[in-house]
Amino acid sequence: MSKVYGNGMSDFSRLPPDEVVFGTSGEMSLARANLQLAARSDVPVLLQGESGTGKDILARLLHARSSRGHQPWVKVMCPAIPHSLIESELFGHERGAFTGANCTKRGRVELAHGSTLFLDEVGGLDLAVQAKLLQLLQDGSFTRVGGQETLRVQIRIVSSANVNLRRKTDEGSFRLDLLYRLNAITINLPPLRNRIHDLPVLIDYFLHRYSDSLQRAVRPLSSQTLTQMRRFSWPGNIRQLENLIRSYVVIGDEDVLRADMFPEAEPDEFTQIDLAQPVCLKQITKSMTAKLEQEIIRRVLEAQGGSRRKTARWLNISYRSLLYKLGEAHSLDGIKTE
Ligand SMILES: Nc1ncnc2c1ncn2[C@@H]1O[C@H](COP(=O)(O)OP(=O)(O)OP(=O)(O)O)[C@@H](O)[C@H]1O
Ligand SMILES: [Mg+2]
Repeated sequence: MSKVYGNGMSDFSRLPPDEVVFGTSGEMSLARANLQLAARSDVPVLLQGESGTGKDILARLLHARSSRGHQPWVKVMCPAIPHSLIESELFGHERGAFTGANCTKRGRVELAHGSTLFLDEVGGLDLAVQAKLLQLLQDGSFTRVGGQETLRVQIRIVSSANVNLRRKTDEGSFRLDLLYRLNAITINLPPLRNRIHDLPVLIDYFLHRYSDSLQRAVRPLSSQTLTQMRRFSWPGNIRQLENLIRSYVVIGDEDVLRADMFPEAEPDEFTQIDLAQPVCLKQITKSMTAKLEQEIIRRVLEAQGGSRRKTARWLNISYRSLLYKLGEAHSLDGIKTE
């Protein structure tokens, strides 16, 4: 395959072209218009969408197209940093601020001076850090942990959320005043099932990309498989599609796509239960429920790129309970992050 995709930006060379990123759906046209608007200004931008809908890609596009695009940007994956460290990671610390603070350290906010600070999954920040962030958004000022001096930076803050921040404000776990500061411009990314007309363009892009990078020639997908893909709900959105196409390029057989979209039909198992004999209803339903649970977890885990924390959030269960269900409770000992 010889089609070449790229946009000539060396730092962000893996970004897909606009026709792939935005496709043709109305919601994505609005996202594109908002991105163009945001790129011309320095106001904070909030990217909202389910996991795998392209928030990271849009954040990178926005930075690259802004007046700060020639500067390296600073990205903070908020949930990946333990709560006890996030304040000093963001705002830095003075020597002796806490045990182990042997020297003064600049935080990511300072490192982003003159550029863009991308706060990925901002909804995970605790309330104390939210208060400091609000101050930063109000006048660009902050203090390092353990410091007295007020420092100032000029940065653009781009944040992302795959949870509904408005709901978090109702629950009291996210400050409403902070939300209003972060979302001067909001860009909503629709789930893939709501922009299913864009599926062929995305498939074509991933087929070319992986066929080139993995040096494997592949056949285009059959119309039957394409029809099935159009009907699928894509809980992991474009990330799930990308992973599937990569597997197809590696394995070269469309069955790999169907197996993931339609894993073994569970109803067959039900029809195989021999009700001509007395059965133990409790035992059968318990075993079926356990199988169903494991299958759901497997699919969501895969769609979430293996992230146990995201999977737990997606399934609305605690991280601890997910690890129990996966038989990984032992890894809870002393765990702070993934
Ligand atoms: N519009 C798109 N065109 C091409 N690839 C895309 C697009 N959107 C997402 N992807 C691909 O899907 C994967 C997930 O995208 P991205 O990391 O931007 O999602 P996200 O919304 O940040 O997800 P999460 O909430 O899980 O962090 C990436 O590998 C990215 O390359
Ligand atoms: Mg992301």
